[in-house]
Amino acid sequence: MAETTLGGSFTFPGTRFTVQRMGYGAMQLAGKGVFGPPKDPAAAVAVLREAIAAGVNHIDTSDYYGPHVTNQIIRKALHPYPKGLVLVTKLGGRRPPDGSWQRAISPEELTSAVHDNLRNLGLEAMDIANYRVMGAGHGPEEGSIAEQVTVLADLQRKGLIRHIGLSNVTATQVAEARAITQIVCVQNYYNVALRHDDALIDDLAREGIAYVPFFPLGGFTPLQSSTLSSVASRLKATPMQVALAWLLHRSPNILLIPGTSSVAHLRENLAAAKLTLSPQTLAELDKIAAEAAPVKH
Ligand SMILES: NC(=O)c1ccc[n+]([C@@H]2O[C@H](COP(=O)([O-])OP(=O)(O)OC[C@H]3O[C@@H](n4cnc5c(N)ncnc54)[C@H](OP(=O)(O)O)[C@@H]3O)[C@@H](O)[C@H]2O)c1
Repeated sequence: MAETTLGGSFTFPGTRFTVQRMGYGAMQLAGKGVFGPPKDPAAAVAVLREAIAAGVNHIDTSDYYGPHVTNQIIRKALHPYPKGLVLVTKLGGRRPPDGSWQRAISPEELTSAVHDNLRNLGLEAMDIANYRVMGAGHGPEEGSIAEQVTVLADLQRKGLIRHIGLSNVTATQVAEARAITQIVCVQNYYNVALRHDDALIDDLAREGIAYVPFFPLGGFTPLQSSTLSSVASRLKATPMQVALAWLLHRSPNILLIPGTSSVAHLRENLAAAKLTLSPQTLAELDKIAAEAAPVKH
């Protein structure tokens, strides 16, 4: 393992899946707008192989990335999969030919999305499937998710999904889902500048449930902050490394899935697992969210 610990390990509750806390998010491997093939498919394959060679064993994906493209690249790069690799997908969306993002939440659509994932990844069962609520943009909205979670629980009983998670959800929706089935992870929009989920993270930590922030680096508009930059120059690190290290320090149930299409950025991101932040530095970084302009999500 190149980055000796890759942030330490975490076991998803009630599972035999133990992963390094520093993982990889594969969304950036599809073409522009997460639609169609990438400009350089060989580079995408190289990023995935580099991640595995460095010790990453947690990859986040979805069959609606591309659509199908990202999963097909993962299969091409890594199948047969190394022992211990945990592949996590998302269900609940679809990408029509116009490239828009639409809900796909009927029992038939959720079931066919699982089969799409399995076929394109070359698996018999998904390790973890997150029900991704397609709310307003990248933020959750209240509303029952019982029907969809029940469908996933049925697919789990049929052996097509091993474990279930949620994405883009509120605390109320997490509680509703947990009354139906075991939830092993929650994937929501969160980073050093956007901290709406602070309370949820702490609640999930008490239950041993993983919290997996999406857009850990700011997503389509990468984080920019003078505090990040000054801390980074002091630590001889990069602002992105500091943003990732802050997440690793924030709570032991946080698992990282930074996305990149570049081997250089991947190496930079993985090296963030080695960065130690002092209590004073953490306090300084904690001020970023308060100072940030209100972010629409
Ligand atoms: N559940 C959900 O609704 C949801 C939504 C969005 C994403 N996700 C998942 O979360 C993962 C992470 O999110 P994300 O990839 O959208 O956003 P992200 O990790 O916050 O940031 C990715 C962006 O930052 C750039 N980047 C990455 N490393 C960098 C570095 N070291 N220096 C400078 N720029 C860097 C990438 O460009 P380059 O390619 O040029 O490096 C890309 O534009 C995704 O891959 C996906 O698996 C889930």
